[in-house]
Amino acid sequence: MEVKREHWATRIGLILAMAGNAVGLGNFLRFPVQAAENGGGAFMIPYILAFLLVGIPLMWVEWAIGRYGGAYGHGTTPSIFYLLWKNRFAKIFGVFGLWIPLVVIIYYIYIESWTLGFAIKFLVGLVPEPPPGATNPDSILHPFKEFLYNYIGVPKGDEPILKPSIFAYLVFLITMAINVGILIRGISEGIEKFAKIAMPTLFLLAIFLVIRVFLLETANGSAIDGLNFLWTPDFEKLKDPNVWIAAVGQIFFTLSLGFGAIITYASYIKRNDDIVLSGLTASTLNEKAEVILGGSIAIPAAVAFFGVANAVAIAKAGAFNLGFITLPAIFSQTAGGVFLGFLWFFLLFFAGLTSSIALMQPLIAFFEDELKFTRRQAVLMTASIVFFSAHIVIFLNKALDEMDFWAGTIGVVFFGLVELIIFFWIFGADKAWEEINRGGIIKVPKFYYYVMRFITPLFLAVLLIVWAKEYIPKIMVETHWTIWITRFYMIGLFLFLSFLVFLAGRRKNREVG
Ligand code: PHE
Repeated sequence: MEVKREHWATRIGLILAMAGNAVGLGNFLRFPVQAAENGGGAFMIPYILAFLLVGIPLMWVEWAIGRYGGAYGHGTTPSIFYLLWKNRFAKIFGVFGLWIPLVVIIYYIYIESWTLGFAIKFLVGLVPEPPPGATNPDSILHPFKEFLYNYIGVPKGDEPILKPSIFAYLVFLITMAINVGILIRGISEGIEKFAKIAMPTLFLLAIFLVIRVFLLETANGSAIDGLNFLWTPDFEKLKDPNVWIAAVGQIFFTLSLGFGAIITYASYIKRNDDIVLSGLTASTLNEKAEVILGGSIAIPAAVAFFGVANAVAIAKAGAFNLGFITLPAIFSQTAGGVFLGFLWFFLLFFAGLTSSIALMQPLIAFFEDELKFTRRQAVLMTASIVFFSAHIVIFLNKALDEMDFWAGTIGVVFFGLVELIIFFWIFGADKAWEEINRGGIIKVPKFYYYVMRFITPLFLAVLLIVWAKEYIPKIMVETHWTIWITRFYMIGLFLFLSFLVFLAGRRKNREVG
């Protein structure tokens, strides 16, 4: 029984759209910081293991779950989990597959808008200029720090309210409009066509920047010193469980796993089309963009300019520091630096855009599939919810980190475990295995059957327990009211989505009865 539904037009389009989903700000901003903070070369050992034992298997599972649901006309987890497991808990767990991408898009799209805003400012040359002849890091970085802080309106004291510039707010509106403009055209005409342009552009831009960074050399060092730092393992670090947690967390984030976003994209694959090779190809493209390109821009540039010790300190200050302050400051010290800054932010914007549309699509699909909205209504409704909610992040200090922690860090690991249990343990391991391999251009090695059934779930369960032990005691200690508002808002969103799922169920019963 094939339900009428939109489909990807071409295999290359599907792969590029999926790669666009995965390749995002995480590759160019989050990865270098995680690697630098967690032992450089040593980080790559748990990272590669996490890719092989968590990333690849979950990728196949999400593609299979999505394609399965799509054949029955469903693109989101409340209904798909219910197809796999006839139990009302399936729907409740499924709500997380709407909630996680919704919470994440609320802050992701705002950060994406900064990259567009910065790209515009660098293009027209409205950028800070460090004092001529300045050599020490602080005096070079300071004007760029002011620039970022004024842009997003970081308060001078410890007031809880951010006061973004009008320009930042306008660019945020434009960013929303661009996302809507792509999404409203639908899967093959909107998302797929855009990915076919954006992904090659993005790779070319990134390669160009890598080459430029490799040519940097100062009295403090060269880009090669940066690569040495990033790739020389420090095995002592492997004893620290936090390094392992960081590696698994990065694999989830960068491959878009545990968000529900891959599942929704996969629901537009035809029932008997290959997912094994396509899923592997899309994941591999993401890893190239991350390890080779993402690892060869920000950190090597920072090391070449400021030396290893300063670069590590910069990375420890976080992704925004590295991407929005340090890198443009470094470029400003080189010939044509303002234009390089523009290319860098434009690269980030394209990377962000192909991901933000993927984060919005689950809720859009839900409105279309389950509440029978037209595509236009579904896109506008989703965009309105995102737009309204984003104000928490725009104006409330620390809301962004809190949302990133609950949805983008812990939530995804939890949801990844739920998917594996429902697919391999409740729906059934043999049926799941068959579903993954059906139509495959290649077969998944049998080894992965055991990985998906036993190793990955066990690994994720242990991780969640370690985490819970560490964080649960800290949750209530946090008393700042902005954090509590953010938490209540996230709970509110969950209740709202659950209510929508309930409405969709009633609607369906009426149709049947
Ligand atoms: N993988 C994206 C990144 O690396 C983030 C993302 C997650 C995008 C989920 C879409 C869906 O930035």
